Amino acid sequence: MEHRVPLIAGNWKMFKTCSEAVDSATRLADLVSDIENVDIMIAPTFTSLAVVSDIILNTKIDLGAQNIFWEKEGAFTGEISAPMLLSAGCQYVIIGHSERRQYFGETDETVNQRMRAANSSGLIPILCVGETETHRDEKKTFSVLDKQIEKGLEGLTLDEQHSLVIAYEPVWAIGTGKTATPDQVQEVHAFLRDLVGKKFGNSLANATRILYGGSVKPDNVSELMALPDVDGALVGGASLQPDSFSKIIHYS
Ligand code: 13P
Repeated sequence: MEHRVPLIAGNWKMFKTCSEAVDSATRLADLVSDIENVDIMIAPTFTSLAVVSDIILNTKIDLGAQNIFWEKEGAFTGEISAPMLLSAGCQYVIIGHSERRQYFGETDETVNQRMRAANSSGLIPILCVGETETHRDEKKTFSVLDKQIEKGLEGLTLDEQHSLVIAYEPVWAIGTGKTATPDQVQEVHAFLRDLVGKKFGNSLANATRILYGGSVKPDNVSELMALPDVDGALVGGASLQPDSFSKIIHYS
């Protein structure tokens, strides 16, 4: 189904001060002003969201956050809610990134609560799933992904109006320079689309964008984007430099 508009998303993780984020966003906006038919998103740290939002207003770039808490407001020191992200100018939010699962105790249950909060607020959630190297070696890749998707999407009301983005990020490929092979990526993406279809029907599955993440660089992006079930990329390291991120966005 080729009607899905590709999404190239940059996850800036815990990099860049406010002024560095403003500089990068300004430069990127200039570099991608010619882009058509590709959606672009950058996800700076929380502290840079509002200033970056001003910079990218009326450009080709959308804004995303790297996490969300499920309550709207309250005594939850250190947390950020959907209305706050919306008011800072976000359209997207990354949920369940493997670094959050690994280092900050995220579970499929808390991921699901965040997904519900994003979904009901109008933010577009990017649900991250992926197996570790041990899972893959033990041939548990598909059962792990099945559980992450089942639990992550549990209880969500989804239709074409509620866009869903899934990011397949094999943990062993993140920041390691090891990219999954095209065959591995296509096999998993087709599996994920099939799962969404079984749960929500084929038309939603066909509308769902499935991104690949894990050492995406200017020199491997075209090969990945050519795969039938790859609808974009979630880029870490190579999204930090506007020049290399722009090359990835200009993949075709
Ligand atoms: P790298 O592109 O640095 O491997 O990071 C991928 C990632 O985690 C994006 O969310």
